[in-house]
Amino acid sequence: MGMRILGWGTALPDKVVTNEDLERTLDTSDEWIVDRSGIRERRIGESTAALAAAAGRKALERAGVEASSIDLLILATTTPDQTVPATSAAVHRALGLAGGGFDLNAACSGFVYGLVAAHGLLATGTRRVLLVGAETLSRITDWSDRNTAVLFGDGGGALVLEHVPGEGQLLAFDLGLDGEAREILMADVGGTIQMDGREVFKRAVRVVVESAKRTLDRAKVRADEIKLLVPHQANIRIIQAACDRLGIDRERAAIVLDRTGNTSSASIPLAFADAIDSGRLEDGDLVLMTGFGAGMTWGSALLRWQDPGTGTLPGREDGSHDD
Ligand code: COA
Repeated sequence: MGMRILGWGTALPDKVVTNEDLERTLDTSDEWIVDRSGIRERRIGESTAALAAAAGRKALERAGVEASSIDLLILATTTPDQTVPATSAAVHRALGLAGGGFDLNAACSGFVYGLVAAHGLLATGTRRVLLVGAETLSRITDWSDRNTAVLFGDGGGALVLEHVPGEGQLLAFDLGLDGEAREILMADVGGTIQMDGREVFKRAVRVVVESAKRTLDRAKVRADEIKLLVPHQANIRIIQAACDRLGIDRERAAIVLDRTGNTSSASIPLAFADAIDSGRLEDGDLVLMTGFGAGMTWGSALLRWQDPGTGTLPGREDGSHDD
């Protein structure tokens, strides 16, 4: 049993904060931020539930399925709107979903963790999952700290996933966690993000490369066969270093961080949806998602792209889906 992608959707707050805006309140410059991170602007505002629901609604529309046909909602977030209940409860209500729902916190690797969790559940009887990554990191950012304030943003991205007989689109994955590194990037309950940027950078490149390689090895796929790399959108230099070490052309990486900043669990679905909507994928292309985050967590997933609206989907010779 496997899974396939039926639809995708994204949401960003309306409010744009540019590097020039930050220059007015912080001892920083557009030149420094672009040079050291690749970020030019980020979006800020709304609640995690609102962004998750907006992205989820678009994904359902794109998939052409009813909210009532969803068996399970998985919301990857590191910025829930409150401690109890889970933010997925508000998203479930807003969308009129059926079935269960839960939040998942694996920091910026959350979307890949959610994808792997969804895959396991779809392989064991769940029929359809709405997987969302959504964040309002602006609420836990110290806007007076130039070390972190320039890096983060808010947003959401979602996929509708359905079970299929046969292999499906997820070919291999790798998940990991090194709890020894939990203090290099953290926020206490009610507090703001504290980060040792250099240490995170160094470890991020290493874990992403190792995790991506393990995933490729498991599927017996070579790096040069990857059509699209969808990395966590934290820093363009981390992405370029990972591409170079993996032997994947930099041009093959999906990039939205210049417009969004680091949106944690939302960053991989935002970059993935942008690449799909830009026509960068053709049926059969191999896509490698790879992320890292606080914990320190990491996760990679290798997918074979298939447009749900065309062609033959894995496991369904006529490309049909249940509804
Ligand atoms: N504007 C101007 N100068 C800044 C600045 C800013 N916004 N932020 C930091 N600086 C300064 C530092 O204070 C330091 O000054 P010093 O040398 O006088 O101490 C100098 O710039 C260089 O700092 P450094 O840490 O060496 O820069 P860097 O090249 O490592 O880039 C990061 C800093 C944070 C952009 C980079 O380390 C990074 O992206 N790390 C990973 C962070 C990350 O991905 N976090 C999320 C993980 S999910």
